[in-house]
Amino acid sequence: MTIKQIIPYQILDSRGEPTLMVQMSSENGKTAKFAVPAGASLGKTEAVEKRDGEGPYGGLGVLHCIEAINTVITPKFIGYPLDQLEDFDELLIALDGSERKENLGANTLLALSGAYLKLSALEKNQPLWQYISEHNNTSPEFPQLFATIVGGGKHAPGLDIQEYMIVPQNTNPDIATQTIYDVYHTIRTVMENLYGPSATLVGDEGGLAPIGTSTEVILEALSQLNGKVQSKFDIALDAAANSFYKDGLYTIETQSLHASDLFKLYQGWDSKFNLYSIEDPFAEDDLEGTEIIKNMAGKPKPFLVVADDYTTTNKSRIEEMQKDTLFDGIVIKPNQVGTFTETFAAIAAARASKAKVIISHRSGETTDSLLADLAYGVGAMGLKLGAPIRGERVAKYNRLLEIAADLDSNQRQSPVGSRVISPSATAKTGSAPAGTSTPQLPPSTPPVAYKPPVSPIVQPQPVAPAAPTTAAQPTSSLVPPS
Ligand code: PGA
Ligand code: ZN
Repeated sequence: MTIKQIIPYQILDSRGEPTLMVQMSSENGKTAKFAVPAGASLGKTEAVEKRDGEGPYGGLGVLHCIEAINTVITPKFIGYPLDQLEDFDELLIALDGSERKENLGANTLLALSGAYLKLSALEKNQPLWQYISEHNNTSPEFPQLFATIVGGGKHAPGLDIQEYMIVPQNTNPDIATQTIYDVYHTIRTVMENLYGPSATLVGDEGGLAPIGTSTEVILEALSQLNGKVQSKFDIALDAAANSFYKDGLYTIETQSLHASDLFKLYQGWDSKFNLYSIEDPFAEDDLEGTEIIKNMAGKPKPFLVVADDYTTTNKSRIEEMQKDTLFDGIVIKPNQVGTFTETFAAIAAARASKAKVIISHRSGETTDSLLADLAYGVGAMGLKLGAPIRGERVAKYNRLLEIAADLDSNQRQSPVGSRVISPSATAKTGSAPAGTSTPQLPPSTPPVAYKPPVSPIVQPQPVAPAAPTTAAQPTSSLVPPS
């Protein structure tokens, strides 16, 4: 089966900025689309995203990408066979011909690579995750969800740390999603009670964006909920420290700190709130920060150190940095590198270095749900997917729920003893062997009486009584009696 048609479009992403979508059709009329996300806190070595630089949308349009697809790329690929991703991507990379894809643009290449990947799966009548898993020879497993509850940094105005996430320990998508829902809606009410109605506004990834708060308040509020929701969870941060670093100093919550003092601040938060991981704890070009990470390598660490801006989904960078096993986890974002073949290579390199693989969305997203299939298909340890609100974020949650439901229904329809198509949604530790397990149903949970967190540094401020909410039932007990 071969490619019959390629149609590029300019659409809007979740920040309302233009982005590129490619629709690709095969000879027998099957069609797949993929739309490219965009970051706000970029690593310096990311592949180059091409924008018009002039004209409509303040120069952020992608009309030049569309023109390049129509004139340079499409003529080469009409009649090109499907199911040959590596050759397809190699040809794209050769057509671009530059180190960081600055000629055609990493966004141009990724839109084509993603549409081709999806169309190839469709042609084989396989769910995308299964195609990805067979292509990479990986065992599908549900990832732990890294869910943004509160946002800051380049995504929201109130805090310097970019993401305050919870990571449910249970990987069953139903249980993890319910856990994230309960924590999110509870923290929403807590923030509203502490800082007023504007604290329920959200940042780019759907994380709450309270103004006038502090990391200690957020971490305390989150940690008070542990053990009171369906799954136990860990707390993870993405410091994205590039965004508050300048001239050797980190400006964070009114302090100006050298890397060593910032590390002490992290250690203090960890000793109080038991952090699971910190992503990009220092700026990528801060040598003092890199030295601290180097000194920790191979020794027991207070929290996992995760690389995003340091490694930018680049196989060579991952291999170079992981010679010394600098990082315990590596974030994978397809648009940092520009093709899915290179994304798979980065995943393999991270895995070979024993680092945990964490697939990630971008702050400017689309409603495409490919990331959920990618994370499940390659059996990634984690998936960063934002808050459980906003269409572009819930598309990823919903796709995981859909995959789990499909597996569950296949399991129920399989004759006893027959092979089911994948491992079930059990927790990562001690999963049953592929093809033999039964999806875990969420246990019924008694209603939980939440207690509003009492911060040692910020006491609840009196605010106007909140309007009655129709949202989450569990949040009602958080509103203190007047
Ligand atoms: P970005 O941020 O998508 O805005 O770059 C995400 C991250 O740093 O993980
Ligand atoms: Zn990051």
